[in-house]
Amino acid sequence: MKIAVIGTGYVGLVTGTCFAETGNQVTCVDIDEKKIEKMRNGIVPIYEPGLEDLFNRNKNEGRLSFTTNLQEGIKDAKIIFLALPTPPGENGSADLKYILKVADDLGPILDQYVVIVDKSTVPVGTAELVSSHIAKNATVEFDVVSNPEFLREGVAVEDFMKPDRVVIGTSSEKAKNMMNKLYAPLVRQGNPVIFMDERSAEMTKYAANAFLATKITFMNEIANLCEKVGANVDDIRRGIGTDSRIGKRFLFAGIGYGGSCFPKDVQALEKTSKEFDYEFKILQAVMDVNEDQKTKLIPRLKEYFGGDLKGKTIALWGLAFKPYTDDIREAPSLYNIKELLEAGCIIKAYDPEAAANVKGVIGDVITYTKGPYEALKEADALMIMTEWPQFRTPEFDVMNVLLKNKVIFDGRNLYELDAMKELGYTYYSIGRET
Ligand code: UGA
Repeated sequence: MKIAVIGTGYVGLVTGTCFAETGNQVTCVDIDEKKIEKMRNGIVPIYEPGLEDLFNRNKNEGRLSFTTNLQEGIKDAKIIFLALPTPPGENGSADLKYILKVADDLGPILDQYVVIVDKSTVPVGTAELVSSHIAKNATVEFDVVSNPEFLREGVAVEDFMKPDRVVIGTSSEKAKNMMNKLYAPLVRQGNPVIFMDERSAEMTKYAANAFLATKITFMNEIANLCEKVGANVDDIRRGIGTDSRIGKRFLFAGIGYGGSCFPKDVQALEKTSKEFDYEFKILQAVMDVNEDQKTKLIPRLKEYFGGDLKGKTIALWGLAFKPYTDDIREAPSLYNIKELLEAGCIIKAYDPEAAANVKGVIGDVITYTKGPYEALKEADALMIMTEWPQFRTPEFDVMNVLLKNKVIFDGRNLYELDAMKELGYTYYSIGRET
């Protein structure tokens, strides 16, 4: 099937590449000429494990092409995916200007029946809105479908190729059949394609992200209480996660959730509820707790150094909002860097992928090191912000020599308490005794 994907961010590029991999003829459209040129030359503009191989294979075999010309991109397409940014608007709700601009542009150039798919996370009612914008100038029949994406950065290709479920919101039988055909190769293990109306599909995406953010936040609050009562959140996680009604995943306490999705989507859902005159009390609490959680280790650091951090050198391990990505949007590291700098600290940071992005935002106010140990040289303390696997089993012998004090502030609970005690470290983590 010939399909077009408008927007080549994380979602668009993964969608386009993966549908090419299942044998479709895919054209990716983007207004960014430099980006399109790069992709034509085989350069993948984002870091996403496994994507580059897939991208180049499909490009070289002629199933994946790129253009900045919308009309050329959608030529003969049976399905057009909209994977455009929906940044938070001034009032917290998602800003639809990019999507609606493309909807306006599409109307006059459609020349046959086509299914237009909202892949971005969009507020309830967007499918209808997109439809009305296209309809203003369209002369042919079309359907607008909501097909939210549940992929996680870092494992996006795997999530796309083996989805737990595919959610499709449409009231059109014709669109339903076409979407079913397109997704058939991805749900062969029996994972369901769940059909519903457009509004429910849009709401499903927000509900999923808000639920997961709430699950993490609940564990963060349990962790905070564990510290007070002298319990260990790791044990609580094991103790409750084995209950199949609760489930093992997304129960890891830490320095808060970040990324481009959870913070934005929780905020947008709360905004939607207000618009519909409903007070979604849990969501406000989730946002408040997460805000505090991000810099939770700073007061402990201050306390350790007798209340004054001026002139202290802090080594930071991890800058990305989570491992296997270079994404730093809403990363807890950024909030910690800000507070540490305000307190007069010198920061030496290491991240295997995200340093360039942080440098792009804050410049050279901190030092970026080539390896994790270089960051420890002459440092007064180590703070861990991201659970990159390479930080899990470091050479403690080497660390002992480099660090001025044997003290670690770990926002990701990487080490066992007993082991740290044995190694002679003062070890602060989340929801576990010191
Ligand atoms: C999230 C969802 O998991 C995807 O299903 C969804 O498609 C995506 O948002 C989106 O809306 O596009 P992502 O933001 O890539 O995906 O990252 P996650 O792996 O979900 O992690 C989000 C944050 O939660 C990270 O900061 C992570 O450190 C934190 N987290 C996760 C915890 O603090 N504890 C956990 O147990 C799990």
